[in-house]
Amino acid sequence: MRFRPLAPADVPALAAMLGSMEPWISYRVDGPAWERLLAAVPPGEEALVALDGDDRVTGYAQFSYKGAFCLSGYIRTLAVDPGRHGGGLGRQLLAHVEELVFARGPNVFLLCSARNEKAQAFYRAVGYEQVGCLNAYVLPGEDELLFRKTRGPIRKQ
Ligand SMILES: CC(C)(COP(=O)(O)OP(=O)(O)OC[C@H]1O[C@@H](n2cnc3c(N)ncnc32)[C@H](O)[C@@H]1OP(=O)(O)O)[C@@H](O)C(=O)NCCC(=O)NCCS
Repeated sequence: MRFRPLAPADVPALAAMLGSMEPWISYRVDGPAWERLLAAVPPGEEALVALDGDDRVTGYAQFSYKGAFCLSGYIRTLAVDPGRHGGGLGRQLLAHVEELVFARGPNVFLLCSARNEKAQAFYRAVGYEQVGCLNAYVLPGEDELLFRKTRGPIRKQ
């Protein structure tokens, strides 16, 4: 697996892929909405695509180094091509993001829908712990679980 920054030419196919997947179907973020989001990644956020041996885009990660509490890494989006789930690509993509984030600080956070039990199992399997629950944060009646992976506190004392 190789990684490189998201390029404008990636956007149409990647947006179609993300818009066809859970949890974004349930959150009503469809392909056109993803096209707008991917075309305007906010300043301070990194957007990376994962490529297979044939240079096909097989995954996407969007994250920031200080996106959690202005102190710690925050992963906004992590996704693997649905046809490739369960093949270890998510683990590799996340490990790459973590390598970048942990080079700048000892914590990384993310939110995962309480309904998204597959992703929760994935995050637990790769070392994340649920540290909170944001009730009805994005949508009414839908809770977001806060996950953290840590190598220790920010300060020594
Ligand atoms: C979540 C996601 C990124 C995981 O990527 P993946 O390539 O499917 O996961 P991997 O194959 O690398 O799995 C790594 C480990 O996670 C666990 N895991 C992954 N999927 C799982 C599932 N459906 N159920 C239980 N455990 C799972 C396994 O322990 C696995 O390790 P193993 O293969 O050694 O058993 C991917 O499934 C995805 O894109 N899902 C849809 C989008 C999404 O929900 N993103 C997260 C939003 S918060």
